[in-house]
This record gives sequence, C-alpha cells and structure tokens, in this order.
Amino acid sequence: MAPEPSSTSSAITLHVNGEQHRLTVDHRTTLLDALRERLDLTGTKKGCDQGQCGACTVLVDQRRVVSCLSLAVAAEGREVTTIEGMADGDDLHPVQQAFLDLDGYQCGYCTPGQICSAVALIEEHAAGWPSAVTPDVGPDTAPAPLTPDEIRERLSGNLCRCGAYVPIVQAVARAAETHAQSRTRAEEAAA
Ligand code: FES
Ligand code: FES
Repeated sequence: MAPEPSSTSSAITLHVNGEQHRLTVDHRTTLLDALRERLDLTGTKKGCDQGQCGACTVLVDQRRVVSCLSLAVAAEGREVTTIEGMADGDDLHPVQQAFLDLDGYQCGYCTPGQICSAVALIEEHAAGWPSAVTPDVGPDTAPAPLTPDEIRERLSGNLCRCGAYVPIVQAVARAAETHAQSRTRAEEAAA
C-alpha cells in the first residue's frame, strides 16, 4: 500500500507514455528513480546519477531532460515520455528503426537515452534552434543543415562507453531525413 503523504512526501500524478500513475513520493525522489523503482519502467538507465552521461534522458513535455537531476514532484502535470513510449504499437519510432538498421549501439546501455535525446534534437533542429557549432545564427539566416558536426554537438550530453558514435551519428542523420520527408508529405497533403 502506498505510504500516506507527509511533510517530506507528496501524492502526485505522473503522466508517463500516455498513462496516469498516482503515487506518493519522498520530495527527494528523482524522476529517474520514480520511473525505474516505482513504475517499473526500467528502459531508462542510470549511469552516473549526477547529470554527466545522459543515460537517463527522457522527454518532459517533448523536451529532453536528464531524469537523474529532475525531481519526480516537478514532473507532476507534465507529459513524460520514456523509451517505452516511443514506438507506436509494433511500429518502431523512426529513430529506433534507424538505430536498429545501422547498428547504432553495442551493449545498448546508453541507447534509450541516445534515442530520447535524438528524437528531441531532430525536433529542435527542425524548429530552427541553433547549436554551439551552428556557423551563423542571424535572424535572416536559413536554417543550418543537420550535419554530422551538428549531430555530434547536439548529442554531446549523451556518452557511449562502447564508443559507437559513428553509427549513432549515421542513425540520427537517417532518422532526421525520414522525419523531414514525412513533414514534407504532411505539408503537401494539407496544401
Ligand atoms: S544517469 Fe543521469 S546523466 Fe548519467
Ligand atoms: S552502446 Fe554501450 S554504452 Fe553505448
């Protein structure tokens, strides 16, 4: 039975992958621990537990966060997406499919975080957000292409101890291309 809320804990509702979960958490509980230990969503990995490796990356309201540095109570009322929520039934998310097709992993430990991060970075780039290596960010400048350098910079918060960086970058580039093609098709259909 869930413990009663107290001065050091609160009853919260977490919206994760389209489902609502009511739970009482100590105020110090991280989102990562709530996902893994309380909701059994163990796809999100704990690497360093101090914000340095990106293994615990999830999406909160479509933005990537390192869940080891986020409090579960701060996620109340927001939409959390973990690796378990990426696929559409049996259809893998295009980023998942690209990682699979191009062997964008070795042991796979960093992969859920890499994929969550990649999903967000593709959206960030499509929305015109620059990165630290974007050469020109003037108001009249055309969006920079998502080059391998851009992908490396935008994924630099996600470490891979196996060093599978080459196929990871290739997988993100392929998924971004697929994403751009589906956006064009959707825009043409709507025109
Ligand atoms: S486990 Fe969160 S950044 Fe490493
Ligand atoms: S695939 Fe092993 S840590 Fe990245």
